[in-house]
Amino acid sequence: MLIEARNLTKSFPTGDGSLPVLNGVSLDLAAGETLALTGESGSGKSTLLHLLAALDQPDSGSILLGGEEIATMGDTGRAAIRRDRIGLVFQQFNLIPSLDTGANLAFQARLAGRHDAAWCATLADRLGLADLLDRYPEQLSGGQQQRVAIGRALAPRPPVLLADEPTGNLDEATADGVLDMILELVTETGAGLLMVTHSTRLAARLSRRLHLSQGSVA
Ligand SMILES: Nc1ncnc2c1ncn2[C@@H]1O[C@H](COP(=O)(O)OP(=O)(O)OP(=O)(O)O)[C@@H](O)[C@H]1O
Ligand SMILES: [Mg+2]
Repeated sequence: MLIEARNLTKSFPTGDGSLPVLNGVSLDLAAGETLALTGESGSGKSTLLHLLAALDQPDSGSILLGGEEIATMGDTGRAAIRRDRIGLVFQQFNLIPSLDTGANLAFQARLAGRHDAAWCATLADRLGLADLLDRYPEQLSGGQQQRVAIGRALAPRPPVLLADEPTGNLDEATADGVLDMILELVTETGAGLLMVTHSTRLAARLSRRLHLSQGSVA
């Protein structure tokens, strides 16, 4: 099992007290499995993804990543987990503004010590970015930035790809094409995929679906 999460809770402090966002969420992700995470805006999808990505910690509950407990791990350990085991496509892309497309694509893999120029070139080609390698993020469209973010996450060949609405900015036809690419690449690398999507049409193309409603699995 790539991910075994149990009874995750998470609250955020707000002006008038604490806002409960996740109320005991459990999920599993097996190697080669593709899981769609759906739920209305504010239901806690991104919060859950950030916990699974070892970016943030739950208030309680357990997250086994490849059998290792990350819920209670310190900052240094979690940084290593993010570098070595997780590919993350953020809802807001988070490309590095001072790096061109080629350098953004290679960034995660370089950080992980797993840069492979040929694989990077393949990703650029497959994601339709080969002619944009010298451009900076501000010179790219939203959909192009989204594809750079997908390539950057896949470049180190992570065992787990977590993607937060990776096709949210794209028209239907382009979104279908990008999902084709993600599914092909995930199959090729043998990774497990957890993808947030608002589209029931896209969710139906993944092997399993998990629906969040007000911070609980519905
Ligand atoms: N750092 C934070 N501090 C305070 N509240 C937060 C924080 N992050 C998220 N929240 C709140 O937690 C709830 C869930 O947010 P989250 O981003 O997980 O939702 P989501 O399901 O990803 O929504 P969307 O589909 O709009 O992206 C929201 O009410 C949000 O305002
Ligand atoms: Mg979100």
